[in-house]
Amino acid sequence: MITKKDQCFYLSTKNTTYLFSVTETGHLEHLYYGKTIAPDSINLEALSEKRSLPIGTGTAYDNAHKTLFLGNLCLEYSTMGKGDCRESSVDIEYGRGMHTLDFTVKDFRILQGKPRTFGGLAESYGDKETCTTLEITLKDTCLPIRLALSYTAFEDSDVITRRSTLFNDSDRTITIRNLASLQLDLDEDDWNFVTFDGAWSRERYQHERPLMPGIMINDSKTGVSSAEHNPCVFLTKQGSTPSNGECIGCNLVYSGNHRELVETSPYGKVRLLTGINPATFSWELSSQDRFQSPEAVLTFSSLGMNGASNNFHHFINNHIVRGPWKFRERPVLVNNWEATYFNFSEDKLIALAKQSAELGAELFVLDDGWFGIRNDDTTSLGDWTVNPKKLPSGLSRLSLEIHRLGMMFGLWVEPEMISVESELYKKHPDWMVAIPGRTPSVGRNQHLLDLTRLDVREYLFKILSDTWHLADVNYIKWDMNRTFSDLYSANSEIHNHGEFIHRYVLGLYELLSRLTAAFPNVLFESCASGGNRFDLGMLCFMPQTWTSDNTDALCRLYIQEGTSCGYPLSTMGSHVSASPNHQTLRKTDLDSRFNIAAFGVLGYELDITKLTRQQKEAVKAQISFYKAHRAILQFGTFNRIKLANSSSNQVVWLVHNADKSELLVLFAQKLNPSNPGTDKLRIEGAHLEAIYEVFPRQQKIDLKSIGDLINQISPFAISEGSKTQDALSNAVSLDSEIEHYRVSGELLANAGIKLNQQFGGTGYNAETRVLGDFGSRLYIFKRIN
Ligand code: GLA
Repeated sequence: MITKKDQCFYLSTKNTTYLFSVTETGHLEHLYYGKTIAPDSINLEALSEKRSLPIGTGTAYDNAHKTLFLGNLCLEYSTMGKGDCRESSVDIEYGRGMHTLDFTVKDFRILQGKPRTFGGLAESYGDKETCTTLEITLKDTCLPIRLALSYTAFEDSDVITRRSTLFNDSDRTITIRNLASLQLDLDEDDWNFVTFDGAWSRERYQHERPLMPGIMINDSKTGVSSAEHNPCVFLTKQGSTPSNGECIGCNLVYSGNHRELVETSPYGKVRLLTGINPATFSWELSSQDRFQSPEAVLTFSSLGMNGASNNFHHFINNHIVRGPWKFRERPVLVNNWEATYFNFSEDKLIALAKQSAELGAELFVLDDGWFGIRNDDTTSLGDWTVNPKKLPSGLSRLSLEIHRLGMMFGLWVEPEMISVESELYKKHPDWMVAIPGRTPSVGRNQHLLDLTRLDVREYLFKILSDTWHLADVNYIKWDMNRTFSDLYSANSEIHNHGEFIHRYVLGLYELLSRLTAAFPNVLFESCASGGNRFDLGMLCFMPQTWTSDNTDALCRLYIQEGTSCGYPLSTMGSHVSASPNHQTLRKTDLDSRFNIAAFGVLGYELDITKLTRQQKEAVKAQISFYKAHRAILQFGTFNRIKLANSSSNQVVWLVHNADKSELLVLFAQKLNPSNPGTDKLRIEGAHLEAIYEVFPRQQKIDLKSIGDLINQISPFAISEGSKTQDALSNAVSLDSEIEHYRVSGELLANAGIKLNQQFGGTGYNAETRVLGDFGSRLYIFKRIN
């Protein structure tokens, strides 16, 4: 709901209130963002900044308002040159290096629903029943420039989205240096700033630091939203716990360079800005033209980061992801990449596919290497036609075989790239992003295609749609494996290369809109060397994202946990891969790899034809378990209870259905604590009136994992690494512990269950929990009353 009373704008969602007012000078003073305050208890006098005296050395707004210091007001937007020396949300250079601006309110309107944006940005959507929009128009007091601020309140998700639009009503071109999507000023500084940082194969590790006087920046200058710093950030009240305490979350519906800046002022006020990164941006705005910022997404919860994450999850599932796959359960896939890399034949793929179908997989994905003459990563990007040497019967034949096996067929592409060794480069060298006369830098032996150009996009649309029709695809993995360098375009529309990256993003979105509209039933998964572009912009086109190339069970605890803070499980591609893991060489047990991958969209990415009989049985059981619980594992309510990202050796995650009649709990340990103490499962989120049956998913324990201790019970000697050990481990495995409880939700929430003892070197029986290093269990809680 959004209303205006007296000079106060009142925005509300199910559990939150957002308030700001118009000052006597026409500026917008931010008053409050937090838990619901009823409209009739709003007291403007109590909420407004007191200003009966001037501030020492401060610059007052003007002679008529000697105690109005914009530099110490919480504001909804800010400019330079009128006394507010904090980082501003709007910066325009309008002539001879001048930047001073002063926007004051002229007009506003409140609409049910959410009007569509212009200019090709990705954006959220909502109808008249779910959201309300406020648009406020401000005008500079001297110049013919207008700024429009737009707020959409999504009642059901406890989310408010925001964006800014600049209108150049003057008769000359002005240069936009910065236009933040959102400014949020807070009047207390006892917050922690939480960001998700990393690199290839260690994406979105959570970091938290207390605010200090001055500026902290989380940004990307790589050209993509990046694994280095994701655009999703949080402010958590110091002293809060994962499920308790005030938390503000902020994200951006954008896939290019972004910046989230937090500034703590000398007066203890905090300013949060998010938007396109001004460090790599400038935009020439012609006379009578307008420019719109990407949409920012804001949420508040008093239930800590879990509460704020749940709001984001709801918002993304309901208002970002679209199309037939929105709430459709996502298929279990098998991808051939780590099974074969570039080295595959038709026979090998069919063998993999047959085995996949037997184990219960529903989608077979052919990854890199099927096109051009590509046998390694040095050639052929751009030549999206089948390699006849590798696939003599063609893509359509392979797809037919896969479909005959009862599975969907998926294909990998990396359309935004070009290899110098390609037919495409021979024909169109100027389509490659490079600066004439300067040797271009190179990433993974490849270069960017200039997506700002219409002819490039036309080429891609045609060749991709022809191939996808031919191959009758059901799924596309859209990859993007390098960051930007040598920015230059021969596109005559670009006069200022500060526009390049934003125009590239708009070009990408245009291409994706056309392709997703042309293939409405295809499931798209976005990827960028794993999770280098995991953002809300891509999720507007593709319902899921490959979370990371790193599928090591231990690393995945950190990666998936960090990612889940901003994004729902339905968006996170998670695969079981080989052990030792290809990124870390760490050995982990097959069931623990599954237990962690199950918290997301499950897939397998290893040579399943080479698994032992025991392992195949285990995988079959995993897939059937996953399918039975998939609705919860993809679309349930997810909470982090014990964090990987903490000093705790244990990690506990919870996902449950809406009425809490079914809960699934991951219990994982980082290392095996020798002679361990008692492990306890306390689930505060259980339904207090429920009675639950609680038991672990049955797992197989590989005989090899107990090493030569086997000789304690074996009638014949078995040495490590011997053929006998192999044969035995192929034929038999141990069952995991038997453990079963019938307990009340009250007991679970307040006391918890003391679990069976872990193996501690003193013996073993049917009740012993053998977890080892990086081991885990998945507990099932079923309500029975
Ligand atoms: C990237 C992706 C991988 C795989 C390879 C293929 O690294 O993240 O999943 O598709 O490219 O080259």
